Amino acid sequence: MTQTSQAKAQTMRAVALDKFGGPEALKIQNIPIPEIEADEVLIRVEAAGVGAWDPFEREGRFVEIMGRKPTFPYVLGTDGAGTIAAAGKNVSRFKEGDRVYGAELANPKGGFYAQYTALKADNASLIPGNLTMDQAAVLPTDALTALTGLEKVLGLKSGQSLMVFGASGGIGHLALQLAKRLGAKVFAIASGDDGVQFVKQLGADSAVDGRSDNVLNAAKEFAPNGIDAALVTAGGDRTNRALSAIRKGGRIAYPHGVMPEPTAPDGVAIEAYDGEFDPALIERLNNLIESGPFTVHVDETFRLDEAGKAHEALTEHHLGKIALRID
Ligand SMILES: NC(=O)c1ccc[n+]([C@@H]2O[C@H](COP(=O)([O-])OP(=O)(O)OC[C@H]3O[C@@H](n4cnc5c(N)ncnc54)[C@H](OP(=O)(O)O)[C@@H]3O)[C@@H](O)[C@H]2O)c1
Repeated sequence: MTQTSQAKAQTMRAVALDKFGGPEALKIQNIPIPEIEADEVLIRVEAAGVGAWDPFEREGRFVEIMGRKPTFPYVLGTDGAGTIAAAGKNVSRFKEGDRVYGAELANPKGGFYAQYTALKADNASLIPGNLTMDQAAVLPTDALTALTGLEKVLGLKSGQSLMVFGASGGIGHLALQLAKRLGAKVFAIASGDDGVQFVKQLGADSAVDGRSDNVLNAAKEFAPNGIDAALVTAGGDRTNRALSAIRKGGRIAYPHGVMPEPTAPDGVAIEAYDGEFDPALIERLNNLIESGPFTVHVDETFRLDEAGKAHEALTEHHLGKIALRID
């Protein structure tokens, strides 16, 4: 290999920010491939998830909250999937070529909007079931956030009733299916007629359009004595009205980031939380996914050089998730 082609091989295409800003700040650049530590893997990325929180990170608000000094060029992309290109010397779980997915919020080595990313091996996993790369790419943060909310925060038990507010969205459509798998009865509040059709197909026991006015009547029919618990992924007056259907002694959970923050009726506990990433929870998620047919819905896929458009699409009505194709 000549020196020039060797130097070329050590760089990659990425969407990188030179400064925080609007969608126009997302630019294709050639930047160095990150180096891995002993406990990390290098992933040859095939697809990245576009998170509802990505614009927030693009504007520099995560590093501000985390009190970190950012380094530029800054590569976004919490979630993604691809194959193992190299594994650090302490990593025995993965070998070159394994199909993996993984996630890390504001990874200081750069995220998944790139041909390669360096990730802690503990944050990566083999892809469960027969998910495609695009489906696996959009899965981890929203699915782990759903599972953390359902099991750790709400303590959802088989036979209990659950309201999912925002059920046709990223977290919502995954939470609904996971809750069914945990034996709950699900009242799904989706967005639009297409959202209602979608969540019915995913197995909701009852489904209603949260932008219409019949939510409380439908909730009363679903659970005349009130619903046991709620997972909320969108806030506002309609959310707070819907939450009056939760029974006294019931529980509400919502991930940090849901704005405006939901409020609970008297006698109902409410908790904001963050999704957890750990190998045990990832394994639990994989087992739940593999225990039957599971839908990870990718509504739209954009090319890497269309990352700005993908961010704009986040602000428009859509079902499930949005992905970026890296190749
Ligand atoms: N703290 C954490 O660990 C963590 C992790 C992941 C995500 N989050 C945060 O959690 C929130 C949700 O994430 P997400 O990925 O699920 O976002 P999302 O895909 O945008 O889901 C929100 C859903 O709520 C729907 N919605 C809005 N108003 C509604 C209404 N009145 N009735 C019914 N549905 C309604 C939206 O529909 P439309 O498409 O029509 O707008 C959308 O489908 C975001 O704020 C995100 O940043 C936090």
